[in-house]
Amino acid sequence: MLPIEVQRAPTPKPKPSTEGLGFGKYFTDHMFRMDYSPDRGWHQARILPHGPLGLDPGASVFHYAQAVFDGSKVFRGKDGQLRAFRITDHCKRLASSAERLSMASVPHEVAREAIEALVKVDADWVPNAPATSLYVRPVVIASEAFLGVRPSDKYIFYVILSPVGSYFSNGAEPVRIWVEQRYTRAAPGGLGGAKAAANYAAGLQAAVDAKKRGYAQVLWLDALEHKHIEEVGTMNLFLRIGDEIITPPLEGTFLPGITRESALTLLRDWGMKVSERKLSIDELREAHKKGQLREVFGTGTAAVISPVGALGFQDGELKIGDGKVGEVSQRLYDTLTGIQYGTVPDTHGWMTVIK
Ligand code: COI
Repeated sequence: MLPIEVQRAPTPKPKPSTEGLGFGKYFTDHMFRMDYSPDRGWHQARILPHGPLGLDPGASVFHYAQAVFDGSKVFRGKDGQLRAFRITDHCKRLASSAERLSMASVPHEVAREAIEALVKVDADWVPNAPATSLYVRPVVIASEAFLGVRPSDKYIFYVILSPVGSYFSNGAEPVRIWVEQRYTRAAPGGLGGAKAAANYAAGLQAAVDAKKRGYAQVLWLDALEHKHIEEVGTMNLFLRIGDEIITPPLEGTFLPGITRESALTLLRDWGMKVSERKLSIDELREAHKKGQLREVFGTGTAAVISPVGALGFQDGELKIGDGKVGEVSQRLYDTLTGIQYGTVPDTHGWMTVIK
């Protein structure tokens, strides 16, 4: 067991009302922090009031972007119990993201203990309204003050918590997505397979431009040819063409999503035809022309399932299905959230009760 010192916040903050939670706007009273140095390894695990980290402006995270994070959720079930979704998988991914950026990685068991201990301290921050949860954001950053370009010697691992509602302001309504032909997010051999902060920075300008055009997010194409579909916004992408459900294969240019893997598992459980294969934009347009493009949706922790209602191109827009949430998207959303809130049996052992 990791010895964790707990320093409680002297005055708890007022809790926001569940209606206006949105995503990531509020933080709980406490955070977890642990430091790394070559001689001591990870040390000084502590839970303390949520507040500034106190970093030197020379800290290499600010210069060379050694920063990785992850994101998972804890749900308050109808029975009042708190359940974390696939927490070990999230902690394993955090460790592999850190390794990709040559950072000290936190053993997954340690990250998990830290998260569980912090959630217990801030348990009354887990909201209980429908479609709300506690978002868990573990982060590792390089903290050594040094301007030479090499992996930092020192790191900070911290975890913050945010009570959240819907990721998109329009809830589960299908979103309009711009097919991005100019910018790319991650190239083969790059950081795309890690949850590196830099990947999100790389995607921001395309999202800003898409918003100006009236689109919620972008559809990313591969970096080499701008031909194959990769992901949607910050989410993995699924398409339903006829009776085949297609998602691009994991080749290191985008994140191995935990919701993606959960969706694949459920679809296979249901006996659906599922393919992890490349899909070109030409094939997508062709399927649309033939009336076979039935659903497009994103999968991610934040939004769970996010249906896409329209795809925007320079030469016009393709409407997907009948503009409403598709049948498979809805079934996946209902099943995943049912498992998360404890109303659908958790046959794959994805949930951990936190008590
Ligand atoms: C997700 O959980 O789907 C994301 O990756 C978005 C997150 C970075 C807010």
